[in-house]
Amino acid sequence: MKKLFALIGCPVHHSLSPLMHNDALQSLGIDAYYHAFHVEREQLKEAVFGLKALQVAGFNVTIPHKTAIIPFLDDVDETAREMGAVNTVVNENGRLIGYNTDGEGFVRALCEQMKISLSGKRILLVGAGGAARGIYFALTRQGVSQIDICNRTVEKAVQVIAEAKSDVSSTAYSLQEAEERLENYDIIINTTSVGMTPNIEEMPISLHNLQKGTIVSDIIYNPLETKWLQEAKARGALVQNGVGMFVYQGALAFEKWTGIFPDVKRMEQIVLKQLG
Ligand code: ATR
Repeated sequence: MKKLFALIGCPVHHSLSPLMHNDALQSLGIDAYYHAFHVEREQLKEAVFGLKALQVAGFNVTIPHKTAIIPFLDDVDETAREMGAVNTVVNENGRLIGYNTDGEGFVRALCEQMKISLSGKRILLVGAGGAARGIYFALTRQGVSQIDICNRTVEKAVQVIAEAKSDVSSTAYSLQEAEERLENYDIIINTTSVGMTPNIEEMPISLHNLQKGTIVSDIIYNPLETKWLQEAKARGALVQNGVGMFVYQGALAFEKWTGIFPDVKRMEQIVLKQLG
């Protein structure tokens, strides 16, 4: 019987996941189909139990359900539990198990696309929301020497650092404080939605103190190059957009469902073609 993979979220109509996963399934000759389902907050529980009853093989979870889904799953792996968010669910012999591939997806994309090792690196995260939390957790496992977080609401940055209970040196800063000390970092990452379509003129922090050669990464992929990345590039930074993270989180989910790590270059091309 043809297997079903799914995405649940709200909204999902613009999602590129169906295109990317269906192409990977087809190119590998796997008899399965990936479909995006619009699920409202109030119907999350019914949707999860429905997918289980339909023996879905696995599914992705997106905004706004990544945290709310946890009580409705049969088990959640340790990393996802620590992050407090699930983006991938695997049906393991009738039990729905939650995972999170967002943070690892970001790290894999950063290392492979920028051809770097994170060992000993000094990193600044801009933002302290759900995306920042996942990325922060994943980075703490990479042998980095420092990960600071700056955020409009500083208390949230303090909270992310405290909850992670990591040994990595970390300080919370206001956006203004961080702007004054950009020369202290090897890698600067925007995890906020500031600069995303349609608000393409906005920038998460000013880059006036940016040093040449710094790696600047933005998790936004629409637009492909935010105004912030354009400015970073103009100041001599090495830049990366959010397509890599999107593709790698999907590839890691695909691997959990099928045991096969798909062709990420092919996935990236599909996404770029759609966005370009
Ligand atoms: P996500 O799960 O996508 O990370 P989120 O949890 O709502 O989304 O977090 C959004 C992040 O973007 C937060 O760090 C938020 O800052 P606050 O914690 O102060 O709200 C940040 N953010 C959103 N809009 C912003 C803006 N206009 N200026 C600065 N930061 C902003």
